[in-house]
Amino acid sequence: MIKFLFLALFSTLLSASYLTNKSCSECHEGIFEEFQSSQHSKTYFNDELHRKVAEKVAAEDNYDCSTCHMPSAKNQKELANGTIKPDFSKQREKDAISCFYCHQIAYVKKAHIKNKIILARQAEDYKPTIYGSLENPQDSDKHTMTHSPIYDKFVCSGCHSHKRNTHNVLIFDAMGDNMNSKECIKCHMPLVAGKVEKMDKKSRTKHHDHSFSGIHDMGMRKKGIELNIKAENKKIEVSIKNKMPHPLIIQAARLKYLKLSIKRDGKIIWQNYKKSPAEDRQGSFKIDFLGIDGKPVVIPAFAYKRGFVNNIRAKETKKLIYNVPDLKKGDIITASMYVILAKPSCWKTLNLQNSGLKKSMLLKSKTYTIRAKK
Ligand code: HEC
Ligand code: HEC
Ligand code: HEC
Ligand code: HEC
Ligand code: HEC
Repeated sequence: MIKFLFLALFSTLLSASYLTNKSCSECHEGIFEEFQSSQHSKTYFNDELHRKVAEKVAAEDNYDCSTCHMPSAKNQKELANGTIKPDFSKQREKDAISCFYCHQIAYVKKAHIKNKIILARQAEDYKPTIYGSLENPQDSDKHTMTHSPIYDKFVCSGCHSHKRNTHNVLIFDAMGDNMNSKECIKCHMPLVAGKVEKMDKKSRTKHHDHSFSGIHDMGMRKKGIELNIKAENKKIEVSIKNKMPHPLIIQAARLKYLKLSIKRDGKIIWQNYKKSPAEDRQGSFKIDFLGIDGKPVVIPAFAYKRGFVNNIRAKETKKLIYNVPDLKKGDIITASMYVILAKPSCWKTLNLQNSGLKKSMLLKSKTYTIRAKK
């Protein structure tokens, strides 16, 4: 019995430095549920796209993805150098971008390859300290709270800013140097109804949404761009405004494309591509990579150069001009932007099972009818 008690006590001391997502749900149930539905709860084990790319990389290199994709894992060095593999029996690894991890971020150091997150130091035999943006927070039974003036300024930039591969090729570049995480929080963590914690200490009725909705969410997909059409004689101009403070394409797996058509008397008489959106280069937005031999590579980690890149910068508007058959009164022009989460060029290499990744999903659509000439 004494031995058992000792063991139990010893193990709580050892685990005092990490609180699981589930443990937060005891008091922050609503926030936990939102989090569970978010991409931040996805990692190697339950994100097929990430795992398939990671497996290809690991076959030739290492799982050098964990600092961002499995940041709570204990053995970051060993995961990165390939001496250990992701292990489904480890809670820290399954917890993905965990509550505790994100709320321990004390500072982010800028660096060339990728930024580095500095975590708050936790004393093993005290309640852990949680960082947040709340002024004058109170402690709870399970954690102390510290208001950190830099927390909400840097909290997203540790992982979302930029990343280069081992050949110094830029894989993604989402945040400009002066971009503040507060901006990200405004759109991706808006205030929503619901208690902050079950004790309801301060009788707050709103909290920041922890669903981190983005491209996987139908509602958010509509909000990123604005489309406009101008047409005259034999010309159509489609302008695409990127309303987001980050590029239209961040993730190299994505393809966003324009489908433009003219309908006359109920029949499509012209379209910007026949079979594949790739036929229209100006209307296909993506980041492709080239290998050491100058041939296309699917896995960004193996890239030596960027290949074809067509993107729209933060808040930029791009105008696409199309020469079309003579337009007539009553012609209906439809411009629709779609996204495919995993672009067709990677399907074969990755052998994807989840068909949702291959589906075209609508971002936005606009129609324009040709009226009589004045
Ligand atoms: C035993 C209950 C309990 C558990 C478990 C718990 N918390 Fe809390 N937490 C609270 C209470 C109560 C407050 C309110 C403090 C206040 O109002 O000042 C709070 C406040 C917070 C805040 C401050 C923000 C705010 O506006 O109040 C954050 C962030 C937070 N908790 C994160 C977490 C995380 C992450 C976990 C899991 C690692 C966790 N909590 C586990 C009870 C708990
Ligand atoms: C510097 C941090 C960082 C590193 C290192 C990193 N990633 Fe990511 N990754 C991200 C972020 C942030 C996102 C979300 C951004 C987005 O979706 O545009 C992401 C998203 C992804 C996605 C899309 C997931 C989906 O289901 O939509 C894939 C695939 C991916 N990463 C693969 C990898 C692989 C494989 C590695 C290791 C070789 C890796 N990443 C290393 C930060 C990183
Ligand atoms: C003005 C609102 C707004 C702000 C501010 C904003 N975003 Fe977004 N973001 C969106 C919308 C809308 C989408 C989904 C539509 C899309 O991707 O086309 C999105 C998509 C994303 C995605 C998913 C991309 C992918 O292909 O997987 C990531 C990651 C992301 N944002 C991160 C951030 C980060 C980090 C910041 C802060 C630097 C930020 N966002 C600021 C509106 C915003
Ligand atoms: C990707 C980072 C991240 C993750 C993961 C995360 N949070 Fe948060 N959380 C934040 C940020 C940022 C804020 C503060 C937003 C602000 O005040 O501007 C916040 C705020 C909170 C608050 C204060 C109330 C509020 O809404 O402002 C609580 C409580 C909290 N988080 C609990 C949790 C719990 C529980 C989990 C896991 C289920 C979790 N967080 C996961 C970043 C994160
Ligand atoms: C520890 C690293 C890390 C931090 C810190 C972080 N993220 Fe993420 N985020 C990721 C990774 C990795 C993904 C992609 C996960 C996947 O799809 O497998 C992601 C995905 C996202 C997405 C994409 C959702 C979608 O639908 O595709 C959004 C939006 C997002 N994060 C917003 C934020 C915001 C806002 C913050 C700051 C409050 C933040 N993240 C902080 C690593 C991080």
